[in-house]
Amino acid sequence: MIIKKPPMGWNTWNTFMGSINEQMVKESADAFISEGLRDAGYQYVVVDDCWSEQNRDPVTDRLVPNHEKFPNGMKALSDYVHSLGLKFGMYSCIGVRTCAGYPGSFDREFLDAETFASWGVDYLKYDGCYFPETTDQENMYHRMGVALENCGRDIVYAVCNGGEADVWTWIRSTGANMFRSTYDIMDNFRSYYDIAMSQKDKFCFSAPNCYNDIDMLTVGIYGNGKIGKLGCTDSEYRQQFVLWCMYNAPLMLGCDIRSMSAATKALVTNRDLIAIDQDDAARPPIWFKHRWNEDLRWAFKHLSKGYALALYNFSDSDSKIQFLFDSVGITVASGLKARLTDIFTGECVGEFRDCFAADVPRHDVKLYRFELVK
Ligand code: GAL
Repeated sequence: MIIKKPPMGWNTWNTFMGSINEQMVKESADAFISEGLRDAGYQYVVVDDCWSEQNRDPVTDRLVPNHEKFPNGMKALSDYVHSLGLKFGMYSCIGVRTCAGYPGSFDREFLDAETFASWGVDYLKYDGCYFPETTDQENMYHRMGVALENCGRDIVYAVCNGGEADVWTWIRSTGANMFRSTYDIMDNFRSYYDIAMSQKDKFCFSAPNCYNDIDMLTVGIYGNGKIGKLGCTDSEYRQQFVLWCMYNAPLMLGCDIRSMSAATKALVTNRDLIAIDQDDAARPPIWFKHRWNEDLRWAFKHLSKGYALALYNFSDSDSKIQFLFDSVGITVASGLKARLTDIFTGECVGEFRDCFAADVPRHDVKLYRFELVK
């Protein structure tokens, strides 16, 4: 399966973990339409772990949807999702059990890929727990890669091994379309900050067809999900979303999209921001940090047309952040000026020759479209 853009969608895990069922997945799919998510480019409705019965069917050996949570089975649910013009995603694992203890796909890869295809699945998140220690993780991911390629349906292969075994060095060869590079995100500032920083030097391994996935977003959860009660402020969620977009990371929402705050909805449907994430060039940003204060960082990204500049204040106090154009090869002698437009206000903040500085509140970000003009 070939994919040219980082996938965008929603996943059940961050807010609901195992408390999932057909009704809430359908309502969430409806929210893609009513909240303008589909129009903004979100496509995949993904049911994470805990969807199945504790055991396979004793006769067919196939995975069985939990009868109470999904009384009409997965095909009916995927038909519903498809009827809304969306795509349907599911979850399994390389191990004998999934991370939450349900049957995994170890040694049943081809059967399960065929089952997922028969249910109309378009996206498979494939986790990395409970595989026999004497087997090789890399080989397990090859198996499902081949199984999906031969199951008769185009299925996005979303690998999720928590970044173990230097996954970025071999994962493209397995046929994966994206790969989780970090352990699970929690709904707080420190968690998304650590995840984003841990991958600063790893985005050279992320490109069309196989994107570095730094986890489902916590934007809009405000501590109401099952992955941590601390929550973030709106400015922290803005910072998180900009980090993901500057990295061309998959944008999988993790909040309850049926009841998003106005700020969340405006942020996750911001077309200019999404365009930076989905930019065809998919180039990693160039990172800089303040000489004495590594909590002040900025990133510059070559887009397919023009550039983007993000000024991040990860510190606990409001600060000014300055970017010298010479750092990215824009010399004064070039005769070029930079015209900066604030992505959030749409306002042109001016034209500058050699540097630009802005005040950035604590735990917040400023983001600009950066065009060079004569
Ligand atoms: C973790 C994974 C989470 C979620 C969970 C389900 O390994 O990183 O995103 O899928 O398993 O048990």
